[in-house]
Amino acid sequence: MKLAFVGGTGPEGLGIAMRMARAGHEVAIGSRSTERGEEGAAKVREAVPGARASGGANADVIGDADVVFLTFPYSGQEATLEALAGALEGKLVCNVVAPLEFQQGIGAVALNVPGNSALQESMAQLPGSRVVSAFQNMSAEELQHLDHPINADVLVCGRDAEAKQTVIGLANQIEGVRGIDAGGPSQSRYVEMLTSLLINLNRKHKTQTSIRIAGID
Ligand SMILES: NC(=O)c1ccc[n+]([C@@H]2O[C@H](COP(=O)([O-])OP(=O)(O)OC[C@H]3O[C@@H](n4cnc5c(N)ncnc54)[C@H](OP(=O)(O)O)[C@@H]3O)[C@@H](O)[C@H]2O)c1
Repeated sequence: MKLAFVGGTGPEGLGIAMRMARAGHEVAIGSRSTERGEEGAAKVREAVPGARASGGANADVIGDADVVFLTFPYSGQEATLEALAGALEGKLVCNVVAPLEFQQGIGAVALNVPGNSALQESMAQLPGSRVVSAFQNMSAEELQHLDHPINADVLVCGRDAEAKQTVIGLANQIEGVRGIDAGGPSQSRYVEMLTSLLINLNRKHKTQTSIRIAGID
C-alpha cells in the first residue's frame, strides 16, 4: 500500500512510517514545508534500508495514498483539516492525534475537546473521508527502535468497519503489535486520553509504557 503522513516529520509520524516501510509499504512524509518533508523521507530511508519513502508538502503527499495518517499536534488539527478536506475526500484517514497539554507540576493533561474526541472532530470536518483513529497510545520512541518488537495493542475506533480492518491489518504488520477493533467513534476519547497517563507513567518509571488488553483472543 501507499501510506501518507500529514505532519509526518515529527517522531510519531516518522516512527509509524519507518515501521510501515519496514513492512514493505511505500510511505510519503508530509510537512508544512516541502524541504522538511523531503528531510523526513531521507530519515526513513536511512533507518530502513531499501525503503520506498518520498516527502513533500502535506497537500502533495496525499495524492494517490491508500491510507493517510494524521500525525500532527491537536492544536493544528482544525486548520490543517480545513485546508486539506478537499484532498482527503474519498480517502481512508487514520487519526493518531491525542489532544493533550503539559502543565507545570502535573505533566501531560488530557484535554476535554468540544467534539468529544479528536477523531469525532476530524470526522465532522471530513464528511467525504472514511476516518478512523489508531496508534495514539504507541510511543514514538518504541516505534523508532526498529530492532525491538513492540509489546502493545493498537486500539482502532471508527464507524467504517472495513476501514478499521485495513488499519488493524497495518498494525498487525508491526512485530509484537496486535490491532483491536475498539468500537465506534465515541470510544476514541478514552483511547486518546490514555496517552496522557502513559506519558506520565513513562516519566515516573523512566521507561516506555504501552497497553495490552486482557481477555480478547
Ligand atoms: N510522540 C509520541 O510518542 C506520540 C505517541 C502517541 C501519540 N502521539 C500523537 O501523535 C501526534 C504527533 O506526535 P509528534 O510527537 O510526532 O508531534 P510533533 O512532533 O509535535 O508534531 C509533528 C509534526 O506536525 C507538524 N506540526 C506541528 N505543529 C503543527 C500545526 N500547528 N499545524 C500543522 N502541523 C503542525 C510539524 O511538522 P512540519 O513543521 O514539518 O509541518 C511536526 O513535525 C500528536 O497528536 C501526538 O499527540 C505522539
